[in-house]
Amino acid sequence: MRLNIKNVSVVFPATGGRPPVEALSRINLAIEDEEFVVALGASGCGKSTLLNLIAGFLAPSSGDLTLDAAPVAGPGADRAVVFQKHALLPWLDVLDNVALGLKIQGVGAAQRHETANRFIELLGLDGFQKSPVYMLSGGMQQRVGIARALTCDPKILLMDEPLGALDALTRERAQELILNIWNDTHKSIFFITHSVEEALFMGTKLIVMSPRPGRITHTFDLPFSKKFLAGEPARQVKASADFIRLREEVLKIIFADEEEAVA
Ligand SMILES: Nc1ncnc2c1ncn2[C@@H]1O[C@H](COP(=O)(O)OP(=O)(O)O)[C@@H](O)[C@H]1O
Ligand SMILES: [Mg+2]
Repeated sequence: MRLNIKNVSVVFPATGGRPPVEALSRINLAIEDEEFVVALGASGCGKSTLLNLIAGFLAPSSGDLTLDAAPVAGPGADRAVVFQKHALLPWLDVLDNVALGLKIQGVGAAQRHETANRFIELLGLDGFQKSPVYMLSGGMQQRVGIARALTCDPKILLMDEPLGALDALTRERAQELILNIWNDTHKSIFFITHSVEEALFMGTKLIVMSPRPGRITHTFDLPFSKKFLAGEPARQVKASADFIRLREEVLKIIFADEEEAVA
């Protein structure tokens, strides 16, 4: 799998007396097979716009997006989105929520439930198949959303601040779970977060964006998720000298952008 974003800009037209917004300017980014790319940056720097472009919800004003050399022309089953608000259907149980994407594709009940059960197990939700989703905790609901995204076997998972609504402890557990699933399923992931610590811990590549217009200003290769997957405890990885040094460097970049935006 190779997603290639070449010279992409997005301008939202003027509305209601407000001037046009250059949400993204000349973005170049490649996402390779099994890469975990994390986007970080101040609010309004165009992170969700970039994800919406990859998802095919939005077309670029100029530039090209290709997935395995084919133009991205709209949404497709090769790209699955996990939102912060999990977008589950409250009247369906866990099994049917996880199987929903397959149902929409016309997969029969027996086969879609078998596939859904595999991902329910992978996400640690076994035993909750018949539970209504509104009875689950926020962390469990988010895992239902991730299981649903995985059932359609996408080439790339797109996650827009998927853990932003979780409490600190649940969030750390969910980070570890997502890394383990990434390691097991070999998916590519594009992941947006506000948390510098989360970004550094999760990604293999970090892009830092700045607003007005939205640009990628810095790119870092990250070694930390590999250390966790090799057996080092998560907290130990996050407390290591290399991690803290890079965390402070990235925070400095982001604070400088915010001061510039306020000035
Ligand atoms: N549909 C839209 N119409 C006009 N402006 C938009 C629209 N969507 C986003 N924007 C603007 O584009 C910029 C980038 O937004 P967004 O991608 O949501 O940023 P982020 O996810 O990084 O917070 C912001 O200034 C936002 O107000
Ligand atoms: Mg956003």
